[in-house]
Amino acid sequence: MMSILSLPHILPVNVNKSGSDLAVCYSAVDPHRFFIPEQYTQLYHCEAYTLLNDQHKIRYNQLFAARTNEQFMLFESGFTKAVMENLLRADVFKQLDSISDSLVLLLNDEQRHFEMFRSLNQYCFPEFYTDHDYYFLSIPRLQQALLRLFCRYPQHLYALVWLVLLMEEHAVRFSTDLMQQAGSENLDFNFVKVHKAHLRDEARHVQIDANVLDYLLARSSRGNNAINRWLLNKLLRETLKPKQAGLNVIRQLVLEFPELSNISEQLMDGIRSFEYDPCMMPMFADRNLTPVSKALLKLYPEFENALAI
Ligand SMILES: [Fe+2]
Ligand SMILES: [Fe+2]
Repeated sequence: MMSILSLPHILPVNVNKSGSDLAVCYSAVDPHRFFIPEQYTQLYHCEAYTLLNDQHKIRYNQLFAARTNEQFMLFESGFTKAVMENLLRADVFKQLDSISDSLVLLLNDEQRHFEMFRSLNQYCFPEFYTDHDYYFLSIPRLQQALLRLFCRYPQHLYALVWLVLLMEEHAVRFSTDLMQQAGSENLDFNFVKVHKAHLRDEARHVQIDANVLDYLLARSSRGNNAINRWLLNKLLRETLKPKQAGLNVIRQLVLEFPELSNISEQLMDGIRSFEYDPCMMPMFADRNLTPVSKALLKLYPEFENALAI
């Protein structure tokens, strides 16, 4: 079972490696290969997926991979950045330089990841990303402003940090599965390279998150603890709700394959029928898939229900 590593065990080993091979050199994209494992695409979990032929499935997978890159970009450059920057600004870890240093490192990593995923999307889909960073995702300005406001006090609302941890544990699982399937599933080599680099940093981030959470939880009052348990469950349910972007991927697929227009509603209804994102649900059914959260739950078992979806 994984335990929480102390920061001196995490930082010195990896700091010098950080950034060295993130300048990924891309190779020619093979249009006949999947970009990501099928189980990380929503339609794969619908009956309507069987209506697609192999060519449709490959293109759907590639388009959904672009949307997934956008999701990593938005989450890491938006939510994670806001939460961790505000934690640093609040100066809560006054006596613990190692936590502050690790957060600076994490923020630098996420900035590079944003650029890495953006350049991968630009390379694989120049027709979508020449002028824009986002093609499938759209976040209304009001929602962005509310999010920024909400993320202002993560030292008290540390449920925000736990959400960052869970999304980073998802990233670790995603990259691990992608690399494991790379040989047998004929996945595009550019995606394998990018996720190899991402996995190395995210494996460190989850440990940084755990140290931050342990620090904040150990100093939390009972009342604040209860508020954060409630908030974490709400945040998770909101995050896991399938968003418009999944439908936008299907619209693009139908645009590229007009013969699918007569089943487009069937494909969309498949996505609309999900209460929560089927690509992320396995990690809430099996705690072994979120080993760092599992280690934290051993220390703070009162959060068990907060993570129940
Ligand atoms: Fe990242
Ligand atoms: Fe991260």
